[in-house]
Amino acid sequence: MTTLITNIKELLQVRETSVSKVSGPEMAILPTIKNAFLILKDNLIHDFGSMENLPEIKADKVIDATGKIVLPSWCDSHTHIVYAGNREQEFVDRINGFTYEEIANRGGGILNSAKKLNETTEDEIYEQSKVRLEEVMHLGTGAVEIKSGYGLTIEGEMKMLRVIKKLDQNYPITIKATFLGAHAFPLHYKDNKSGYIDEIINQMIPEIAQNNLADYVDVFCETGYFSVEETEKIMQAGIESGLSPKIHVNQFNSIGGIQAGIKYKALSVDHLEIMKAEDIEALKNTETMPVALPSCSYFLSIPYTPAREMIKAGLPLALATDFNPGSTPSGNMNFVVATACIKMKMTPEEAINAATINGAYAMGISETHGSITKGKKANLILTKPISSYYQIPYAFGSNLIESVFIEGEILK
Ligand code: NIG
Ligand code: FE
Repeated sequence: MTTLITNIKELLQVRETSVSKVSGPEMAILPTIKNAFLILKDNLIHDFGSMENLPEIKADKVIDATGKIVLPSWCDSHTHIVYAGNREQEFVDRINGFTYEEIANRGGGILNSAKKLNETTEDEIYEQSKVRLEEVMHLGTGAVEIKSGYGLTIEGEMKMLRVIKKLDQNYPITIKATFLGAHAFPLHYKDNKSGYIDEIINQMIPEIAQNNLADYVDVFCETGYFSVEETEKIMQAGIESGLSPKIHVNQFNSIGGIQAGIKYKALSVDHLEIMKAEDIEALKNTETMPVALPSCSYFLSIPYTPAREMIKAGLPLALATDFNPGSTPSGNMNFVVATACIKMKMTPEEAINAATINGAYAMGISETHGSITKGKKANLILTKPISSYYQIPYAFGSNLIESVFIEGEILK
């Protein structure tokens, strides 16, 4: 099956040779072709260029994209899409003055979601989660990382990871799975934290790795959750079982999580709302991708990741949603890109790079996703007619997407 898209007003994120990520000043450069064509063959990008050089080809389908923009679909490298129920009551409690921390301390928060998850059947969790997955696909996400972490028991964690696997099998979108047993301490381990760490290391990780249920291991490294020392132990155990770390750090406090992630060659360190100068310094010249989650900052009214300082220091930055029931009940990458521009002062070029190629890097798929490059997956966004790509962050509340291609096919 060959699809030819013609007269594309502007084709974004065109990379002749595959780059794995862009950093510092390179983030401001978004290579594009104006008045372009794009050829998809089966599930891959086959060819592209300027309309003047359109080769003679027999296409099964021709799409005229006059006035419209094409870009690679979003790569959302950090989500918790698989969960049960919601936490709308806590949302109202926060409006009434309680903090996220206070709600967590009285048994709400992650433990509230864990209770709901363990009371819900696997089929029902799948049904609830697939609605969210379908929604984000229609919002232009073509690859997504999904974490466990609301089970906090071996059965609950395995149940979540099986749901993630089933979503991966039933949907064309690329899914990477992350084991986040170290998301919070379950109540019955409140006074025996090392007991839970032992369970994670000696039971959960080996069982999950043996059943091939996860690609990555995550830890919520934060005051009141997992210490740096505990985080290091869990990362080490994950690595020994073939799971690279991608960790939650610096959401509320800077306690050395970034340095620990770097020490264990974490693929990404995520959140980064609270950054000290030494945290930025530590990330220089490493292969670890910093990931910002601006819709979490928005929803919780906490600081935004200091993107300008980080980019000025030469670092790369990726953007992701953090879609979860507590801190970010939204998986809209368009909103993330807009919020990064509006609140973090990223330029549209930087934000689009952060949500495509750098997002792909942060989930280990930049060889196949994140740019318009021959041989990469034909996962694309085709916009409605728009004046320029600045509209994507500018018109922050509008849906500018006309269609989404995943593996070369238009999403129905
Ligand atoms: O990334 N911070 C840790 N985990 C999630 C929130 C989890 C929850 O509140 O359910 C996050 O923000
Ligand atoms: Fe998260």
